[in-house]
Amino acid sequence: MKTQQVLRHHAFGEAGAVLRLEWLPIPEPKAGEVQVRLLVAAINPSDYGRMNGRYGHLPSLPAVAGREGVGVVEALGAGVKGVVCGQRVRFSDAGAWQTFCCLPADALVFVPEEIPTDQAAMAFINPPTAHCLLSQYMDLKAGDWIVQNAGNSAVGLAVIQMAKAMGVRTVSQVRREALVEPLKALGADVVVLEGSGWEASVADLTGQQGLRLALNSVGGASAIAQLKVLEAGGTQVTFGGMTGEAVRFPTRYIIFNDLRMLGFWWDAYCQKAQGGAVDAIMASVFKMFTDGSLRLPIAGKYSFSEYKEALAHHESPRLGKILLTP
Ligand SMILES: NC(=O)c1ccc[n+]([C@@H]2O[C@H](COP(=O)([O-])OP(=O)(O)OC[C@H]3O[C@@H](n4cnc5c(N)ncnc54)[C@H](OP(=O)(O)O)[C@@H]3O)[C@@H](O)[C@H]2O)c1
Repeated sequence: MKTQQVLRHHAFGEAGAVLRLEWLPIPEPKAGEVQVRLLVAAINPSDYGRMNGRYGHLPSLPAVAGREGVGVVEALGAGVKGVVCGQRVRFSDAGAWQTFCCLPADALVFVPEEIPTDQAAMAFINPPTAHCLLSQYMDLKAGDWIVQNAGNSAVGLAVIQMAKAMGVRTVSQVRREALVEPLKALGADVVVLEGSGWEASVADLTGQQGLRLALNSVGGASAIAQLKVLEAGGTQVTFGGMTGEAVRFPTRYIIFNDLRMLGFWWDAYCQKAQGGAVDAIMASVFKMFTDGSLRLPIAGKYSFSEYKEALAHHESPRLGKILLTP
């Protein structure tokens, strides 16, 4: 029997403690399925949530970890038409850290040829989330200002580049001075340091224009700072909680500035979206990757057998994603 390497966990817990490199049989495609070989997978914070048991939906155990990656079609099951071996497609989102998977042929997401494989591996979660954050909550116009924290995250970098393409201007909160220039080189308008008291001078930074939308994936003091700088009637969308702290709100700002606090989850959006909305978002994301107006940096690339180093790198300060290869 042919076997493959997989990164799997048998219990929920901290990633470094529960994840194991194992050998499992290579799955064969059933009728209507294709077999896909992984090229490159990404490591995302939600992979940790699925491993530690705190994510919005959890796999049954034992579970192959990982949700995002790109692979190549290796074999076709009986009756599959319209798919050719060698085409690149999204790998399984129910276990991306394995060498082979089988997917229904009628649900494949094909990757355009022009997109580099490493970029494609990071295309399916964070860029469409950034797209939704910029398009679903208000009708942003060229010249509007928004604020976001975790400006150096993959979502943050996609927001910067997508906002730039829309003519929307960004204030990005980061935790290290060394990130300021690299973010500006990617199109960030203003980059501020968390905890520096930037809120007091925000009107000078934006030329006295209000901030209409705040994007929060951090929580704690970082999220409260956003609420204090939003213009009256502004909206804060929370889609992550990197500090692990609850998002508290400053009562008087909520009342006197009539602020709205909402949540976003790409997985739920995909479940509910109708009329090809997800395909349209992915087409828009792919177009930006194809024409070069969206690029995500890579901080490191590791083989499955180096997964402990990969996790350690992911958990360190960095600018760019950590990628895994079989
Ligand atoms: N709701 C959704 O549908 C959805 C979809 C995609 C992503 N997300 C969320 O969006 C966020 C970013 O994801 P990503 O893949 O783009 O991230 P990423 O590229 O892995 O980067 C992680 C970011 O989190 C920051 N961070 C880590 N620990 C932190 C802490 N204790 N306090 C403040 N900041 C901290 C990092 O800043 P440093 O470099 O300073 O450590 C970095 O900016 C995550 O919370 C993720 O779960 C949500």
